[in-house]
Amino acid sequence: MVEELEKIIFEVMKRAIIIGATSGIGKSLCGELIRKGYVVGITGRRSELLQSIRDQDPERTYAAVMDVRELSTLGTQCNDLVHQLGGLDLLIICAGIGIFNNELDHAKEEETIRTNVSGFACIADWGMRYFKDQQHGHLVAITSVAGIRGNGAAPAYNASKAFQISYLEGLRLNAEKSKLSIQVTDIRPGFVDTDMAKGEGMFWISTVERAAKQIVDAIQKKRKVAYVSKRWRMVALLLAILPYPLYRKI
Ligand SMILES: NC(=O)c1ccc[n+]([C@@H]2O[C@H](COP(=O)([O-])OP(=O)(O)OC[C@H]3O[C@@H](n4cnc5c(N)ncnc54)[C@H](OP(=O)(O)O)[C@@H]3O)[C@@H](O)[C@H]2O)c1
Repeated sequence: MVEELEKIIFEVMKRAIIIGATSGIGKSLCGELIRKGYVVGITGRRSELLQSIRDQDPERTYAAVMDVRELSTLGTQCNDLVHQLGGLDLLIICAGIGIFNNELDHAKEEETIRTNVSGFACIADWGMRYFKDQQHGHLVAITSVAGIRGNGAAPAYNASKAFQISYLEGLRLNAEKSKLSIQVTDIRPGFVDTDMAKGEGMFWISTVERAAKQIVDAIQKKRKVAYVSKRWRMVALLLAILPYPLYRKI
């Protein structure tokens, strides 16, 4: 009887995949979604970190080692993970890199483009096709306030985030045309205290826990765009209208 009940509860639980959950925002989102009752599939390249996260709640966490630059195998790997989870309601793309590259070494720029542009688009397209097939679902991606203007020290990073912002808007338009119950949420953090957030001049830095709570809140409210923390919206608006002669002085 208890086993039957547990089976029924498991079947009605929502399923999420987080692409890029071995550290930082993705890892914290995993904990937050489990607390909200989700079964979660986590991915990343560092298998030992995936395993240690999975060990904390093996019944609610599934893991797949995945490199988003390996475009030819991403679809199959995502399908396998969905099979393990028993379905998919929510796909969060969190994987990303940012490299300071004042010297404009193209190899570094290309790594960012392969991860944040090609890998991102490949996973997002796979997710949207999956949600269209099942006629419902929610795609979320962690972009950045950085996507609003260029950056001389990391040109590919800011440009890749601009690409993600525009791509998500395109996918949202595509979903709305289909009239299916598919949501697309663009999460734009300012600074969050993770391995990636290095460098000088940072301010209003969120803890990963606070950021994860705000992101899950935006997901539950089915926001189209959300800033983390919320006051970064003001910065984003200002950045968008700031004339170039003033922007270059920042
Ligand atoms: N921290 C901030 O201030 C901030 C601000 C705005 C936006 N963001 C965005 O938030 C997202 C998460 O970053 P974070 O701050 O949490 O940094 P993080 O701790 O470095 O996390 C990055 C995640 O991406 C995964 N990843 C990187 N390259 C990958 C690849 N080739 N294949 C698969 N997974 C890959 C990493 O996993 P593996 O290394 O194990 O593969 C890791 O789980 C990024 O998209 C970033 O641009 C961060």
